[in-house]
Amino acid sequence: MAQPFLEVSGLHKDFGGLTATNNVSFAMGRDEVLGLIGPNGAGKTTLVRLISGILRPDRGSIRFKGKNITRKKTWDIVNMGIASTFQNMRPFRRLPIIANVMVSCLSPRAMKRGEWVKKVEAKAMDALEFAGISDMALEKASTLSQGDLKRLEVARAVATEPELLLLDEPFGGLSPAETDLMAKSIARLHKGGRFGRLHSEGPAMIIIEHKLAQLMKIVDRIIVLDFGNIIADGTPEQIVENPEVIEAYLGEGEI
Ligand SMILES: Nc1ncnc2c1ncn2[C@@H]1O[C@H](COP(=O)(O)OP(=O)(O)O)[C@@H](O)[C@H]1O
Ligand SMILES: [Mg+2]
Repeated sequence: MAQPFLEVSGLHKDFGGLTATNNVSFAMGRDEVLGLIGPNGAGKTTLVRLISGILRPDRGSIRFKGKNITRKKTWDIVNMGIASTFQNMRPFRRLPIIANVMVSCLSPRAMKRGEWVKKVEAKAMDALEFAGISDMALEKASTLSQGDLKRLEVARAVATEPELLLLDEPFGGLSPAETDLMAKSIARLHKGGRFGRLHSEGPAMIIIEHKLAQLMKIVDRIIVLDFGNIIADGTPEQIVENPEVIEAYLGEGEI
């Protein structure tokens, strides 16, 4: 069988006595958009932080394009083509918005395509344009609303020209209209193409989201976590009919 694009095997993470991810295994292909859902505290953010190198697993491994990335540093993982946006966003608040994105453009991965500092600003501007906040480029990041902070996160991730993008609650705190816009940007990014000076090869994606109706429009497949365990893995249609999934969500009123 061909080498999977991303292969997570037996990934285990405890926090003190609490198991956040329990022996999680799955694989995904280069063209997939994977939704990751589950009740609060199910281990979704932990799983994505393990993949992006922010957390180290206690056991298990992560392979990306055939390479073992389990204990690599976040910076190296970004340079291999995995970018993430975070549930709790922490921009450089005192820097202008555009400078926040320029930092991402300075990754060796982005620069090895022959660009250099002169072009970084133009590229960062293209990423802001892609994310829909280019008109605010010179404002301080501290002035951004929750919705615009999400867009800044997307711009920063896109600026690294990733092959795998990890999105942690991209619709969190957004109005219905903003959610629609964000969903459209995500779908457009996955299709790929040139956005000004940025190349997008249409990254594979893992998207954590509670807004299931919106999520289902943009994903091919959904994995459900509950108490750190994968309890279902299938198409959106299979997932909404899965009795174990319905049971796990009882009382949350979200499915
Ligand atoms: N840094 C941490 N220290 C201690 N416990 C944590 C930490 N991060 C997450 N947890 C715990 O691990 C569990 C899974 O959390 P998380 O991955 O954030 O879940 P989800 O994103 O699905 O809501 C929760 O019980 C949470 O309280
Ligand atoms: Mg979370």
